[in-house]
Amino acid sequence: MSETAPDKPSRYPFPPYANGWFRIAYADEIERGTLRSFHLLGRELVAFRDEAGRARVLDAFCPHLGAHLGHGGRVVAGDRIRCPFHAWEFDGEGTCVRVPYAEKIPPKAKLRAWRTCERNGIVFLHHDAAGRPPAYEIPVLAEIGSPDWTPLEIRHWTVAARWLDMNENCVDRVHFKYVHGAHTIPESEISAEGPVFRVRNRMKLGTPQGEVDGGIDTTDHGPALQIVRLSGIVDTVMLNTATPIDAETTDVSFAYTVSTAGGADAARGVGAAIIRDLEKQMAQDIPIWENKAFWERPVLAQEDEGFNVYRKWYRQFFSEADRPGMGTAT
Ligand code: FES
Ligand SMILES: [Fe+2]
Repeated sequence: MSETAPDKPSRYPFPPYANGWFRIAYADEIERGTLRSFHLLGRELVAFRDEAGRARVLDAFCPHLGAHLGHGGRVVAGDRIRCPFHAWEFDGEGTCVRVPYAEKIPPKAKLRAWRTCERNGIVFLHHDAAGRPPAYEIPVLAEIGSPDWTPLEIRHWTVAARWLDMNENCVDRVHFKYVHGAHTIPESEISAEGPVFRVRNRMKLGTPQGEVDGGIDTTDHGPALQIVRLSGIVDTVMLNTATPIDAETTDVSFAYTVSTAGGADAARGVGAAIIRDLEKQMAQDIPIWENKAFWERPVLAQEDEGFNVYRKWYRQFFSEADRPGMGTAT
């Protein structure tokens, strides 16, 4: 029998959903009086904004006979949702507060309510495999919503890969040259502290006025939010969020704001250039991410040391029992 090449190994030998805060939506996508459905983290979810303005996120299937609340359900009395099937009503904590035809509400009539927080124009949901409270907070950025910065511009990509594969990009100095055509491999400084991971890159940028010193600083807060600061030409802040849709697919989004310190025209020009560059870079990265294998123990060159630091840091967002599959690099 002739030998055949082995199939690509099973891609990810660790659970699909890390512990931490995940973007469920941008703030203006969750409105008062409107129930919206989401399929994220392998689940059906519904979300609405209550009368006090707080974003509420609940599991979508009614505990009574399983109707999907997002298909015909609606917000009633400002802060309850009514099931389309037999009109049971649930509050923002998921508690059933009314069964219109029954004398007694069954005590187990409860929907799972997810912890949320709203920061920087984004509604985050907290996921923890063991149901523990959040171990870190999302920072508030002064630039978002400031009159000195442009309103957030948003783009989404659906990528058939997990965030760990994609976000290793931030420590992958070498790929900037071979995938994205950078002239040099940038100088990077990496540091990890608790749930925060920083990479400081310095490089020369070509401009019509000649070369300037440029910087790309990325700061990850947990497993699904990365803040990117670009400096050198016009200061820009990007919020890069990644929410798993299911075990194999991720909704990746970039929301960016540009400083208007150099004038509105410069900010517009830079904004347009950023979008062009982002779209080009994603088009270059995505085929690699979607088709690569995940090696638990990749063979690395000495210059690739950032991968070890990044993976070691990322392991904290998985429960102890799930960590071995994330591997270590050799
Ligand atoms: S299935 Fe929701 S009220 Fe019956
Ligand atoms: Fe890249």
